[in-house]
Amino acid sequence: MTNIDAELEGKFGDRLKRGEPLAKHVNYRLGGPAEWFIEVKTLEELKWTVDLMQEYSFPYVILGGGSNTLVSDNGYKGVVIKIGLRNFEIEGNTVAADAGVISASLARATANAGLAGFTWAISLPGTIGGAVRGNAGCFGGEIRDALIHATILRDGEIVELANADLKFGYRDSIIKHNQDTVLQATFKLEKGDAEKLKAELAETLASRKDTQPLYAGSAGCIFKNYEVADQAEMDALNEKLIIPQAMQKAMRISSGWLIEQMGLKGLEIGGAKISMEHGNFIINSEQATASDVLAIINHVKEEAKKRFDIEMEEEVQYIE
Ligand code: EPU
Repeated sequence: MTNIDAELEGKFGDRLKRGEPLAKHVNYRLGGPAEWFIEVKTLEELKWTVDLMQEYSFPYVILGGGSNTLVSDNGYKGVVIKIGLRNFEIEGNTVAADAGVISASLARATANAGLAGFTWAISLPGTIGGAVRGNAGCFGGEIRDALIHATILRDGEIVELANADLKFGYRDSIIKHNQDTVLQATFKLEKGDAEKLKAELAETLASRKDTQPLYAGSAGCIFKNYEVADQAEMDALNEKLIIPQAMQKAMRISSGWLIEQMGLKGLEIGGAKISMEHGNFIINSEQATASDVLAIINHVKEEAKKRFDIEMEEEVQYIE
């Protein structure tokens, strides 16, 4: 036993798992095992574990809701730390949520409390920590819109970063670029009418159900939408594609739409398939492996590059 194993076992006893199948913890329902797996339940446990990993320079990865995650078929060699901190508090217009709170539950709770500005998140299956890290967004909203500050663990210290310090971008934040771990996030919302807000939740969910394959395992959208650099690039693309006005205005091309234009919807490799409902979803249609999904990802990227000189970039996060 290495020191790490002994220390982890001493701290967590039976809760520390060896060879835990990660497929059980991700929406894709595929991927190999974690060498070590622990679900931390308190801030103290989380800090203790991350500090230990950093002290020994031992590989670890933080797992949130597993909604935007593709785990390699070989699993993960190191410690997977699942965030099980799930408390939140609503006080007046202010909402403070632990990193492990499911974003959609928080959307429901804020609507019930008559607070507006977070109903869009009913479509986010992952956790608040993951949503802050990737500045998750959909249906007109983004995490950065209402976030006041986030508490993070950085080099063994607990620090509070204001919205501006988090350097949010499209599906991006500073946390994606370093070893920080999100612990908590605080949002400021507006007073609204609970009944109207609940109707908004239902509408958003229905529209998601109409346009996305929620019946199958997936990681949500696999690719980020493509950001067109300037008008010259847009004009050049428009010679090969008829780009809808809304996308031209936003200077951002929906990857789902692009995949449809390339005629790739329905493409199957092994048990993975590009959804017929939304081209940016690669679903686990029949006991797919991570290699099947990766083969489709690579094929789509090659086609986009070859045909339109577009570099598609993954939104999905890899655990490998
Ligand atoms: N479209 C197609 N074919 C497709 C998919 C889309 O023609 O297969 C068209 C739609 O008809 C629409 C346009 O493309 O005219 C945009 O589609 P959609 O409204 O579905 O939005 P999107 O840009 O493809 C983004 C987010 C989704 C989010 C939706 C809804 C990204 C990468 N994706 O998709 O987020 O749910 O908006 O707000 O930003 C995710 O992040 O996991 C995700 C699914």
